[in-house]
Amino acid sequence: MKNILITGVSSGIGLATAQFFLEQGFFVYGSVRKKEDADALQKQLGDQFFPLVFDVRSNESILAAAKKVEDHLAGAGLLALVNNAGIAVSGPIQLVDLQEFEKQLDVNVMGLVRVSQAFLPMLGAALPKRANPGKIFNISSVSGLFTAPFLGPYCASKYAVEAISDAMRRELSIFGIRVVSIEPGPIQTPIWEKAVAQTNTYPGSDYEPILRSTEKLIKNSKAKSIPARRVAEVIFKAFKRSSPKARYIVTKGKLGQWLLFNLVPYWLVDYFIANALQKRLDKDKARKMA
Ligand SMILES: NC(=O)c1ccc[n+]([C@@H]2O[C@H](COP(=O)([O-])OP(=O)(O)OC[C@H]3O[C@@H](n4cnc5c(N)ncnc54)[C@H](OP(=O)(O)O)[C@@H]3O)[C@@H](O)[C@H]2O)c1
Repeated sequence: MKNILITGVSSGIGLATAQFFLEQGFFVYGSVRKKEDADALQKQLGDQFFPLVFDVRSNESILAAAKKVEDHLAGAGLLALVNNAGIAVSGPIQLVDLQEFEKQLDVNVMGLVRVSQAFLPMLGAALPKRANPGKIFNISSVSGLFTAPFLGPYCASKYAVEAISDAMRRELSIFGIRVVSIEPGPIQTPIWEKAVAQTNTYPGSDYEPILRSTEKLIKNSKAKSIPARRVAEVIFKAFKRSSPKARYIVTKGKLGQWLLFNLVPYWLVDYFIANALQKRLDKDKARKMA
């Protein structure tokens, strides 16, 4: 049996990846946070799907789930772990709520480390090397390559995911475990609606006029977004390779992204961003004076 584990399968990329691997004949362990989601998914995805209920912020609940998976595997191993569970926290670094920032890092960074530590033994992280060592797919983001203003907390978490992926890839090479960073651009999932619902415009602050247009910006980026299934396809393509690349960008306009990340100097990007922010402040001032 070909077994894989995916965190955060209640919606979005996690759900699309679970569906995709099930279609390819895999047995999928998938984590959710709510028992109702586990029951609904069991019905929706069938008996090749095994729901796990844990929060990546709780090591205790992860270890309990790992024990369940180990018993269920009965000596077999996992062929892949997809570290997908994540949230997006935005806000200016000067003002962002510290607890929200800590939560961002706890879920996206420490959560990924906790889950990896718990499931690495089942991926073959021990010597002598397993015949078919597992692969790890860390769902990072283009926000792990480029930092947009007011997305500092989210970008910080994804830059950390990039560093952790590099460390894991190099360290786990002694077991033959491949580690891949998946870097999606905007994808059609509920994550941004969830983020907008919690968006704070920091009323009365100097940032307010800029942050009021955040919702519009997110709507614009939605127009450039692609279906979550596209990410699943890329994960599967990388999974099938014996030597996958270290990172895969998944976006609509790959060339534009590549140029931005590789050729455009930071000072030019800073210049355009500073101009755009100033324009928004000027527009707001003009509106108030009219
Ligand atoms: N959508 C994009 O544009 C985009 C782009 C680049 C990267 N990504 C990354 O892709 C991954 C999946 O996001 P998505 O866009 O598919 O969003 P999503 O639909 O909101 O899915 C996020 C998943 O993570 C779970 N989750 C959140 N907090 C958790 C916690 N503390 N413990 C366990 N599970 C938790 C959610 O469970 P609940 O339903 O219980 O909240 C949900 O299943 C994230 O790492 C995200 O950063 C997304």
